[in-house]
Amino acid sequence: MTTQTVKDQAYAKSIRIFHSIFALCMISQLAIGELMDVPEVEDGHEASISWVTPAVAHESHGIPQVGPVEETLGFEVHEYLGLFIASLLVIRILLAMTSLPGANWRHLLPWLFAPGRSQLSREIKLQMSGWKSMKLAPPEDGEAVARSVHGFILLASITMAVTGTLLYFGWSITAPQTMWVELVAEVHEFTVVVLEILLGAHILAVILHQRQGHHIIDRIKPSA
Ligand code: HEM
Repeated sequence: MTTQTVKDQAYAKSIRIFHSIFALCMISQLAIGELMDVPEVEDGHEASISWVTPAVAHESHGIPQVGPVEETLGFEVHEYLGLFIASLLVIRILLAMTSLPGANWRHLLPWLFAPGRSQLSREIKLQMSGWKSMKLAPPEDGEAVARSVHGFILLASITMAVTGTLLYFGWSITAPQTMWVELVAEVHEFTVVVLEILLGAHILAVILHQRQGHHIIDRIKPSA
C-alpha cells in the first residue's frame, strides 16, 4: 500500500488519541481483573476475600450486616480505572455521532445495513481461503469484517462499562450479594471472555497485516 493510500484511510486525530489511551487502559484493566482479589461476604455471614468467578448463589436476603470486608488495592484500582474507561466510552459514543474519518457508528456496525451486509458476505467469500492460511487482504480490498470486529470490541466494552458501573454501586462488602448483583456480575464476567477473544483476533490481525506490509498502524498511531 502506498503512503498516500494509508493516509487516505487514516482515522481522525481524536480517534487515534482515543485508541492509544483506551487500548492501554483496557489491557491494564483486563490484567488487573484477572489478578485481583474480590472482597466478598460469603453466605453464613463470614467476611472473607474470595474470587468472584464461581457463580455462588447468595439467595438469602435481609441478612444482618457483618464486616465490612477489606477492599484490596487491586479491586480499588479496578473500580476507578473502570469508571475512567466508562467515561472514555462516553466520549467514543459522542465521536460516533460525528462524521470525522473512521468515527461514525455506521462505520463500526456495517451489518446493520443491507449494503454493509452484502459487503460483509462478499468479503467473507473472497477472503476466507486467505484467512485459513493466515493471509489478510489489504484494507483497500474491503474492511467490513475489520470494522465489524472493532464495532463488537466497542459494544463488548460498553457492556463491560455498564455492568461494571452497576456493580460499583451495587457490590456489597458488608453482606452477601443480592440476586440481581450476582446476575450483573455474571454478565460482566462473560463479557470479559468475549472481549478477550475479540482482542486476540484484533491483535493477531494487526500483526498479520503489518507483516504483509499493509502499514495499518500508521493510520491509528496518534503521531501519524
Ligand atoms: C497492542 C495493542 C493494539 C494494537 C497494536 C492495535 C492496533 C490497531 C490498529 C492498527 C487499528 C486500525 C485498524 C484499521 O486499519 O482500521 C486499530 C483499531 C481499533 N482498535 Fe486497536 N490495537 C491494539 C489494542 C486495542 C485494544 C486493547 C482495544 C480495545 C479494547 C482496541 C480497539 C480498537 C478499536 C475499537 C479500533 C477501531 C478504532 C475506533 O473505532 O475507535 N485495540 N487498532
